[in-house]
Amino acid sequence: MSKKHILITGTGSVGMRHARNLTSLGATVSGMDPRGDRRAAFVDEFGTAAHQSLDDALAAGGFDGVAVCSPTRFHVEQCIPALEAGLPVLLEKPVAKTLDEAQALAAVMIRTGTPLLLGYTWRWWPPLARVRELLAADAVGAVRYVDFTMSAHLADWHPGEPLAEFFMSSAELGGGALLDESHWVDLMLWFFGMPESLSARVEKISDLDITSDDNVDMMINFANGPRANLHLDLYGRPHRKSIRFIGEGGSILWSETPNQVAICLEAGENWQRETFECERNDMFLGVAGEYLALVNGAPAATCTIDDGLGVMKILEAARQSHAQGRRMDLG
Ligand SMILES: NC(=O)c1ccc[n+]([C@@H]2O[C@H](COP(=O)([O-])OP(=O)(O)OC[C@H]3O[C@@H](n4cnc5c(N)ncnc54)[C@H](O)[C@@H]3O)[C@@H](O)[C@H]2O)c1
Repeated sequence: MSKKHILITGTGSVGMRHARNLTSLGATVSGMDPRGDRRAAFVDEFGTAAHQSLDDALAAGGFDGVAVCSPTRFHVEQCIPALEAGLPVLLEKPVAKTLDEAQALAAVMIRTGTPLLLGYTWRWWPPLARVRELLAADAVGAVRYVDFTMSAHLADWHPGEPLAEFFMSSAELGGGALLDESHWVDLMLWFFGMPESLSARVEKISDLDITSDDNVDMMINFANGPRANLHLDLYGRPHRKSIRFIGEGGSILWSETPNQVAICLEAGENWQRETFECERNDMFLGVAGEYLALVNGAPAATCTIDDGLGVMKILEAARQSHAQGRRMDLG
């Protein structure tokens, strides 16, 4: 297979990570970022071009694909010209700021027939794949309740970078707990499919000097599945990422730290623990590998635009539930 040339839009934290991983898998990368210091850092590390605008980059040409790693507000407007040009896209999550924008993108995909892989990267995390196997095998019987928690103080995310310069602080740029931590909504859909209804609060309650939301709580109901609570925040210390499933025959507990899946089938705390050695970058390497396969003609398998539309539907319902103070049916 020939060496593929991927354009990265947004050469910040995740853009540079994808650039390194794609390079390690044999691709060439070029960059695009409106910030001069980010372009300079990219050129310094990769020795290839970094463009100031997407128009300039696409005019230069020579790409086999585009990885959209810019702040969420720009996702759809940058995917569309790439898809129109027939370039397979790796799109960082979430698809868009709103469901309407995400649906517009899906329509362009149908019209152009150009494929897209969506980067809800935790789907490539082996311990969570293990949890899915345990659920499929009915390891704790019928699951009646699930508790999803993602709690991490925003000031710890990009140490050394002023919060005001990080897009996560800005509602306008698509930052905030609801959009950015929608990984946990995606995992919920991956495990159980679309819920029947939800009630939610989407708020800014901490002292963080940001315009985006920093606290999300959802109560979720599945027609033929569990009840679930989902909590996302941007002010919590110590950081916590965990999911607890309570079944009729016992419980499964997944946590990022420690990196393990534990199962307990008794009244006492007699947990059988399976620990894992995988590191955070492994999931991004998994995405990069699947994306290069997509560029070479394979279909998007692990995370598709339809998965992203499902998440956007939940996020929109959560916003409406908060605004209207009522439970939303998801049909
Ligand atoms: N899958 C994951 O686990 C994961 C992890 C981190 C970030 N992300 C997603 O990736 C995206 C970027 O997040 P980040 O943490 O890398 O942010 P970041 O702030 O570190 O980087 C964003 C970069 O985009 C640049 N930028 C601003 N406007 C732009 C534009 N119009 N076009 C192109 N680039 C532009 C900024 O200058 C910056 O260099 C977000 O959508 C975020 O949700 C996903």
